[in-house]
Amino acid sequence: MHPDPHTVLPVSTDWWRSAVVYQIYVRSFADGNGDGVGDLAGIRSRLPYLADLGVDALWITPFYPSPMADHGYDVADPRDVEPVFGDLAEFDALLADAHGRGIRVTIDLVPNHSSHDHEWFQAALAAAPGSPERARYLFRDGRGPDGSEPPNNWPSVFGGPAWTRVPDGQWYLHIFAPEQPDLNFANPEVVADLEETMRFWLDRGVDGFRIDVAHGMAKPDGLPDMVPMEDTGLLADHGPGDLRFDQDDVHAVHRRIRAVLDEYPGTMAVGEVWVSDDARLAHYLREDELQLAFNFKLLTAEWTATDLRDAVTDSLAAVAGTPAPACWVLSNHDRPRHVTRYGGGELGTRRARAAALLQLALPGAAYLYNGDELGMPDVDLADEVLQDPIWERSGHTERGRDACRIPMPWSGSERSYGFSAQADTWLPMPEGWAALTAEAQVGDHASIRSLYRSALALRASSPAFAGDGLDWLPAPDGCLAFRRPGGLVCLVNLSGAAMPLPEGQVLLASADLGDGTLPDDSAVWLHA
Ligand code: GLC
Repeated sequence: MHPDPHTVLPVSTDWWRSAVVYQIYVRSFADGNGDGVGDLAGIRSRLPYLADLGVDALWITPFYPSPMADHGYDVADPRDVEPVFGDLAEFDALLADAHGRGIRVTIDLVPNHSSHDHEWFQAALAAAPGSPERARYLFRDGRGPDGSEPPNNWPSVFGGPAWTRVPDGQWYLHIFAPEQPDLNFANPEVVADLEETMRFWLDRGVDGFRIDVAHGMAKPDGLPDMVPMEDTGLLADHGPGDLRFDQDDVHAVHRRIRAVLDEYPGTMAVGEVWVSDDARLAHYLREDELQLAFNFKLLTAEWTATDLRDAVTDSLAAVAGTPAPACWVLSNHDRPRHVTRYGGGELGTRRARAAALLQLALPGAAYLYNGDELGMPDVDLADEVLQDPIWERSGHTERGRDACRIPMPWSGSERSYGFSAQADTWLPMPEGWAALTAEAQVGDHASIRSLYRSALALRASSPAFAGDGLDWLPAPDGCLAFRRPGGLVCLVNLSGAAMPLPEGQVLLASADLGDGTLPDDSAVWLHA
């Protein structure tokens, strides 16, 4: 018997405000059944590791039935479990065990689109133009004398046009892959179905959702052409003029989402909102909308003092007029990992250690991506093993996101390093990762894993972390220094030379402080 998932955790309605949430890319975290693909049983078996690390909550990426055109972000049934990942009983067991260890569980909600295998889309294909079945999606007639031109000029973020033609001549909209038809949020049935999905998981006891493409969903009336843009891909800034995103009507959907969450005290939603205009981003964080929105500025900042400082200042400014705290991200399953962004190898790892102390010193919530705590880098993969739809759809000009999605190394010195019972994994793991494994690092007090563990323990227990906001302190060129109201001082040195340590009790450092100075590319926490 598992403990009742509803009653184990104390009801704290705003636990997420300063939570450390651990993102699990389900295919790549741990494989419980030996097929080379991560799954729910794998996650469950690693809960002791996660509890020891000290995370407050999990975000599990989509594990719903899916033909995997976009590795689960193409959902064929949002209220069930993909057999590759387990079943509902396995999910319930995972949830109960996580709660039993004091770890909350949040899951991905993918409202903008379904899979083409979803029964609604199959029904839409079988039905006639103008039918109620087609009205759940965005079917339109084409342009040109014979309708052979797409209905507008929108590109798919994965490359190629955002429209695909069906045999009777109509076209359907897909902002992502053709296997991910966009749902029509002007149709009340679509919103009602989203609410049903939320209740399905909330009734099972989940603690909240990460909302995929939370700035999508609403489309402008008449689906007019958008301003032609140089970069309209996944990693572009979908700013004003990009009519595929951030339409005003999206806020009505967020109010519906929030109303459901409010029926379940202590639950929350964090949005993937790629909106760079601060005022527009703040709209998503109004009282009756999302509790959190990822602040991606740290994820896109270069490793320079100016960039990092601006990222922090701008992210805090973006949420300043809202009820939400900031929500910091260094890496996720869509972007190159920060060890690699910061130069890779020993240099990238040294900087990643410093970045961890920066991220975890900031006020608000922090999201870690699985493997951040091991210092995982991106891996160069051969063309023939690439799986991301971006690779095919870009005509082999963009490699996509596989490099940051390599399975986690857990133990041993041979592939798959304890990830799976077999050596072959859905994306191949490289040789030479023995020192990167969790097993090798847990026993080594100098490892990045140990640094993360100490940082999370301090963050959870030290009064130095109390209070919102921060004050910048004077610091030498190329250095960042700030103080939290509770007395935590965080210094990050990117100056190219060692800097003297100021007064204060050292709580934790990302590098050896041997001679009383803070080395280049490192960070320290002081209580002052
Ligand atoms: C989000 C996800 C990404 C996915 C896309 C389409 O950006 O993070 O992985 O491909 O949405 O669902």
